[in-house]
Amino acid sequence: MPTREAYFEVLQSVKVRPCPRRSIIAPNRLEIRNEEFLTAFLNLSLSRPLLKLREKLQSITGRENIFFAPSCRAALAQLLATLPQKDVVLPAYTCPVVKKAAILAGKNIIYVDVAKNSINSTSEEFAKEIKSGRILIPTHLYGIPTDVEAICNLAKTKSCLTIEDAAAAFGSRRMGKMLGTFGDAGVISFEQSKRLPAFRGAAIIINNEKAFDLEKLRTFKLFDLKFQLPMSETAKAVLYNLATVPWIYGRLTLPLILKKYSKANQPQPQNLFEAARNSPFYLRGFHPFQAALILAMLKRFENIRTRIGQLVSIYRQILKDSNIRTFIPADIDESGLLRFPIAFPGRERLEILSQALLRGLFLEINYDQPLPEKEDWSKFPNARWAAQNVILLPLYARLCPEKAAVLAKEVVQLSH
Ligand SMILES: Cc1ncc(COP(=O)(O)O)c(C=O)c1O
Repeated sequence: MPTREAYFEVLQSVKVRPCPRRSIIAPNRLEIRNEEFLTAFLNLSLSRPLLKLREKLQSITGRENIFFAPSCRAALAQLLATLPQKDVVLPAYTCPVVKKAAILAGKNIIYVDVAKNSINSTSEEFAKEIKSGRILIPTHLYGIPTDVEAICNLAKTKSCLTIEDAAAAFGSRRMGKMLGTFGDAGVISFEQSKRLPAFRGAAIIINNEKAFDLEKLRTFKLFDLKFQLPMSETAKAVLYNLATVPWIYGRLTLPLILKKYSKANQPQPQNLFEAARNSPFYLRGFHPFQAALILAMLKRFENIRTRIGQLVSIYRQILKDSNIRTFIPADIDESGLLRFPIAFPGRERLEILSQALLRGLFLEINYDQPLPEKEDWSKFPNARWAAQNVILLPLYARLCPEKAAVLAKEVVQLSH
């Protein structure tokens, strides 16, 4: 949990009471509303949510073959394990569970750096590691599209396959086409930090039927799945909705989080296979209740997208004349972003986080280390820079534009 480790260091250096007790914007709020848990529950017996969600995704993506999985990491492991190719090419800066999924699937990983001033690996970086018979994993980190069409074209010239990691990019479009529908297969995530959170879960989109043995994919099991109504997850999500109301977040939730973060966390080294065997992200089958939740959110999806688009343009406008670095290309689908990454060149991130905290801003960071082994980090300077510098601004529909503008202006103040 990188945010925890970063704040442990921040809290060691802050001598005064770190968090002013006032309304504070949470780094994330769920798009799902409490009343939708009830609607979804009632719809369970009346409709067939899994079937309906599959049909809905078929119509959104224009693809026939859509499979559900316990999580995106499980989906990636499943896709990779059913393919004979040995080598997988991954961005050196992405979600670490992707690396673990590739290892679980028995693959050999080759990394590519991210592009300069970007958080994604583009066709230029993938071109350096393209060799016949490899699997490429183009990734749209935080919902920011990479040049996936160019990566797919490159892959075709060398008989490589592409699995598009659109975990964080549900609904985002590039050249009018949904992300996740470019690669030979695409994956999207319904984990709780994503745009359509349903505790966990993922969809696999097959874009090229010839590239996969669909029967094998349908029946393949990394572990035996359990299908249970996610009761405790629902209770936690209802509580999370309450705990992230800014008034409560600043006065109660964040002080509790900071108290926890101020104690050193010593993660126990665990065998990868053992950890996966005990993880709901690999074990819990995608339940009809989760499908019903996603269907409920999809009814409001255009409104959600409109709000995200507004927030992104506010951030862009306010940050544009500052010396804060933003990573959003000019011509993208702004409504498809999951977070708004920024960095303060020439400044220590820890110093920014601690100054922010004293002003009542709790800023999120993620993926604080590049994925290659430490002795190889020097080969991936851009990934390393991104891992050490990127800070994420929140993007969720419950964040009102006025509050986002205030937040962005405070962030600009931090850069002086
Ligand atoms: C780019 C990317 N890939 C994969 C994942 C894993 O998704 P899941 O949590 O559904 O396994 C994430 C999650 O944060 C992600 O951001």
